Amino acid sequence: MDFKEHVRVIENFPQEGIRFKDITTILKNGQVYHQVIDSIRDMVKHLEIDLIAGPEARGFVVGAPLAYAMGVGFIPIRKSGKLPGETIEANYSLEYGNDKLAMHNDAIQPGQKVLIADDLLATGGTIATSIDLVEQLGGKVVGAAFMIELTYLNGKDKLKDIDMFSLMQY
Ligand code: PRP
Repeated sequence: MDFKEHVRVIENFPQEGIRFKDITTILKNGQVYHQVIDSIRDMVKHLEIDLIAGPEARGFVVGAPLAYAMGVGFIPIRKSGKLPGETIEANYSLEYGNDKLAMHNDAIQPGQKVLIADDLLATGGTIATSIDLVEQLGGKVVGAAFMIELTYLNGKDKLKDIDMFSLMQY
């Protein structure tokens, strides 16, 4: 299946000059969504994983079904102020804007192996901050998996030596 056929590209959203990769067109098609998640699972199934973490909001629609498919738990990484328990936080900048990401401070036990999943790798700001949060708690990031990688933004450089998997590249 050519998954790119199911990604809708929207010009100049949310800012002039940005070609937004809209994955809602994948999500609304049950067969395609299922195959996307299964294909990502197949790319990472050789890894030993205790948990999957995914950043709000679109990281949830990749990370949670992937965790379900792999039989492991899911850790939500949220924007500051959303999680009810005690949190750790880290600053980040993304392709268009700045924010803080947070994780519950008991989400990960030291030494646990974590895969981070998200819909898109752009500048790498979100994944770098997510790695920071996992490592603050003593977790080990064993991989990062994305539906889409925007290769021209070189986000992969932020991953250092962490294995990266992407289903579609632009
Ligand atoms: C988007 C996307 C990734 C991130 C990628 O999320 O879902 O998480 O940006 O960009 P980066 O590699 O430059 O950090 P966004 O922060 O827009 O939040 P959303 O998922 O809630 O829309």
